[in-house]
Amino acid sequence: MFTDKNTQLLYPKEEIKSHDIEDIVQTNIFNIMLNRRSQRKFENKDVEEWKLEMIFAAADTAPTAGGFQGFEIYHIKSEQIKKKLVEAANNQPYVNAPVVLVFCMNPQRVKLNFPPEIIRKFSQQDATLAAAYSQLAAHALGLSSIWIGMIDENKIMEVLGTDLSPSSILCLGYPVKMLVPKAKRILKDLIHEI
Ligand SMILES: Cc1cc2nc3c(=O)[nH]c(=O)nc-3n(C[C@H](O)[C@H](O)[C@H](O)COP(=O)(O)O)c2cc1C
Repeated sequence: MFTDKNTQLLYPKEEIKSHDIEDIVQTNIFNIMLNRRSQRKFENKDVEEWKLEMIFAAADTAPTAGGFQGFEIYHIKSEQIKKKLVEAANNQPYVNAPVVLVFCMNPQRVKLNFPPEIIRKFSQQDATLAAAYSQLAAHALGLSSIWIGMIDENKIMEVLGTDLSPSSILCLGYPVKMLVPKAKRILKDLIHEI
């Protein structure tokens, strides 16, 4: 649950009957990170509106260059557009998921006095971080996800009818089966002390 300084409820705005919400708010982020696993098979089941709201609220908390939030999220509800996004993502069928979010860069929001290539890089990082925050939030809410980076930027812009470049697509839903996390590198190999 996201509250303001006066502990007024900001998200979710919808009243939740389930007691699960308290558990979710108390979720340990390390537990979520350690147990997240990409998922490409989703149940044919809608994701609750309040969960989506929590995911968007999580995206909204991500750090951004200068705090300008140089990104936009397209929430794809149209089945027709989802199918076109499958094509624009190298025909990866699981892009047609219960929830499809396209994270786009919006460099125009980044009002910093730096060269355009730096501003673009900032907005790309903003959009990527927002997607990563959303992905973790989704897992904290019992959902699974797949991050789609293999995309044809121009095709996606055409499908969405926007001049904003996409950075990634995040597909979400209830997993058909919860998968165990993949083994990762040992920290000794990952960290380079100099
Ligand atoms: C930048 C990036 C691009 C990715 N692109 C795709 C993609 O186009 N299609 C796909 O099926 N998975 C894609 N993935 C998901 C990875 O395959 C997955 O995260 C990786 O295999 C590690 O598995 P894990 O997420 O379960 O730890 C992408 C992930 C990242 C971070």
